[in-house]
Amino acid sequence: MEVPIISLSNPDEELMARAVVKASEEWGVFQVVNHGIPAELIRRLKEVGTEFFELPEREKEVIAKPEDSMDVEGYRTKFKKDLEGRDAWVDHLFHRIWPPSRVSYRFWPKNPPEYREVNEEYASHIKKLSEKIMEWLSEGLGLRREALKEGLGGEAVEYLMKINYYPPCPDQDLVVGAPVHTDVGAITFLVANEVSGLQAFKDNQWIDTKCTTSGIIVIIGDQFRRMSNGKYKSAEHRATMDKEKTRISWPVFVESSLDHEFGPLPELITGDDNAPKFKPFVYKDYKFRKLKKLALD
Ligand code: OGA
Ligand code: NI
Repeated sequence: MEVPIISLSNPDEELMARAVVKASEEWGVFQVVNHGIPAELIRRLKEVGTEFFELPEREKEVIAKPEDSMDVEGYRTKFKKDLEGRDAWVDHLFHRIWPPSRVSYRFWPKNPPEYREVNEEYASHIKKLSEKIMEWLSEGLGLRREALKEGLGGEAVEYLMKINYYPPCPDQDLVVGAPVHTDVGAITFLVANEVSGLQAFKDNQWIDTKCTTSGIIVIIGDQFRRMSNGKYKSAEHRATMDKEKTRISWPVFVESSLDHEFGPLPELITGDDNAPKFKPFVYKDYKFRKLKKLALD
């Protein structure tokens, strides 16, 4: 069994759309290849992110997440600080890359100097790819192409870059890089360095994703699961550690703004057979409840 791989260079758009819809219904995770984002740009994205994480700790702390911040943006080391706890063998950087009104460059690395240009270029490509896939997923629900994007807030939809930096871990039994979870946003686009580790849970087993150098892993998150009234699956996934090598991944989370209310799209709730399976939530309340492991239904 393998995570579906979908080539986006097929001239038959119908066929690609159907493959994306099917993978989202059955797996909630798939890999896209030939997606039109230049391989060279992805290579540079990984290069500038890796260079940042290889800087001395004090240089990374310049863009640290402020202690009193209620938001996620900034650099955070769990590796150094929670070494005793042994449950968080990872450092992170979060910063929004879209829309421009939500970008705070103070959380973007200044070093290496090309960091900003590369990330801006990647943002515009990821947005295009994401909007295309959202159109197909909307049509897969029998709705207008714009339905999911509009339901998520239209031009206010946010793109959040995260870099996960997992140092080599001598004892994999003690530590999982990212414990099993579903992503809280609508949809995630992930690339990683050459060290594998991302696994998806399907039919009671863990399946390794084979991320090719320029392939992009797409993961459906909670927002689309709920907005589609359960038609699309939010994939359970986790990241394992490598004994000898540092693993780095770059997920971009596509999500609504924090004040946006989301739930099953009203167009889907027609007739007795289509009762809503989920309650609507304001996104920040949903995130908070999920983080605190409070009931969500
Ligand atoms: C995440 C995540 C997996 C990985 O950050 O949400 O699932 O491969 N990361 O690093
Ligand atoms: Ni995840």
